[in-house]
Amino acid sequence: MARERQPPDGRDAARSHTRQSHEPSGKQIESRASIYGKRYLLEPAPDHKLPKSGMSAEEAASLIEEEMVLDGLPTHNLATFVTTWMEPEADRVIGETLRVNFIDHAEYPQTAEIERRCIRMLADLFHAPGETTGARTQGSSEAIMLGALSLKWKWRHRMQAENKGVDRPNLVFGGDVHVVWEKFCRYFDVEPRIVPLKPDKYTIGPGDVEPHIDENTIGVAVVLGTTFTGHADDIRGINDHLVAIKHERGLDVPLHVDAASGGFVWPFLYPDSEWDFRLEQVRSINVSGHKFGLVYPGIGWLVFRERDDLPEDLVFYENYLGKRDATFTLNFSTGASMVLAQYYNFARLGYDGYRYVMETLRYNARALSQEITAAGAIEIVGGEDQEQLPLVAFKLAGEHAYDEFDVAAQLAAERGWMVPAYTLPPDAEHVKIMRVLVKESLGHSLTTALGADIARALETLRIKGPMHESDRKRVKTNPGF
Ligand SMILES: Cc1ncc(COP(=O)(O)O)c(C=O)c1O
Repeated sequence: MARERQPPDGRDAARSHTRQSHEPSGKQIESRASIYGKRYLLEPAPDHKLPKSGMSAEEAASLIEEEMVLDGLPTHNLATFVTTWMEPEADRVIGETLRVNFIDHAEYPQTAEIERRCIRMLADLFHAPGETTGARTQGSSEAIMLGALSLKWKWRHRMQAENKGVDRPNLVFGGDVHVVWEKFCRYFDVEPRIVPLKPDKYTIGPGDVEPHIDENTIGVAVVLGTTFTGHADDIRGINDHLVAIKHERGLDVPLHVDAASGGFVWPFLYPDSEWDFRLEQVRSINVSGHKFGLVYPGIGWLVFRERDDLPEDLVFYENYLGKRDATFTLNFSTGASMVLAQYYNFARLGYDGYRYVMETLRYNARALSQEITAAGAIEIVGGEDQEQLPLVAFKLAGEHAYDEFDVAAQLAAERGWMVPAYTLPPDAEHVKIMRVLVKESLGHSLTTALGADIARALETLRIKGPMHESDRKRVKTNPGF
């Protein structure tokens, strides 16, 4: 049925009479649109309020698909740690389970069992000493909030048992952490004790945390694979230091490892490096399934060393759809697909498969490092002898009329690559860095193409000078996602 609507050009009917007879009015065009056209070709996309009437399913899908073209291509996005490609069979599993509400354990008990299998496999991968527990989360941010809440609760129990005050908790971490750690402190009323970075040292070690620890310290958070350069804090050194404090001062300060990215890299590339439950003070670990766990966005994991590390009073027991259910989450309803996709990867790849993928990514990252250093004017942050995520972090070497932000803008202008440029946190804020995440969607020939594009961008900037300020403003400057 034809709908009453204004002509798309906004002219009223009287004015449209003045048209030349061969030029149809908007209304005339529209009367045929229901047969030949798409409604949104004639009017703006629904914006401020729900449209009075809808459109066909096919039109609605095309409207969205066409607008999505304005977004960048996920495969061009070298800024994000998050997975942009999965196998078609994984896509099938995801597509078939989109309607499953993960939290509905009573109706979907097998999904709940698969979540537990994933937690058991991760606990084993991270060398948990025995039976333990954990949670599926929306990502590492939720896992960190829950892990840090557990630290706060356990600290409070310890202090109350000694009849001590519980009003001034603090948490110690380095400036190299993701912003979520400061967010936790603000949201949950904990004093952040942040160890500043140094101009030439972008991770932290035992000597850095020592002055900040006291009896109100709920824990120390360390990073395995920092967002900024992909390196790890000296977790072993910090653990040993905390063990010494325990023996000398009687303070039992737990460690939480933020392995958002590194938790799926270190076990495969550096299996002998001890950062996990092999270390005495490590009580909890978070990891993002949607980063090097190789699953699309929407999945993270929290794993405890022992069941007892999850305080009982943080778990909610309720009657849901006729069954007693236990939950430890910040959210409630959410999709089950990404849990199943994670399990797909575990079953499909196994240890050897993950190792193969990680070795391939590292190989390509090294190839890209060599490409871009051959172009000259670039210094790689990190060396082949250092444990690092599969990424290439680099900065300009020497003096130039342009800087890293110009290089990022030039690369985007020439080929659409999204490579972030950013400054490091205090006290290394004068250091500018660019960083390319090497994922499965950046194969060997694309790394070669990217290397050549970086060389070309440098040459263009050398000849024409820096970009205009408006171009520089468009550069992605946030390293953490
Ligand atoms: C070290 C680190 N921790 C936490 C996060 C937050 O993770 P998510 O995006 O999974 O919430 C990130 C994200 O990049 C990260 O790199």
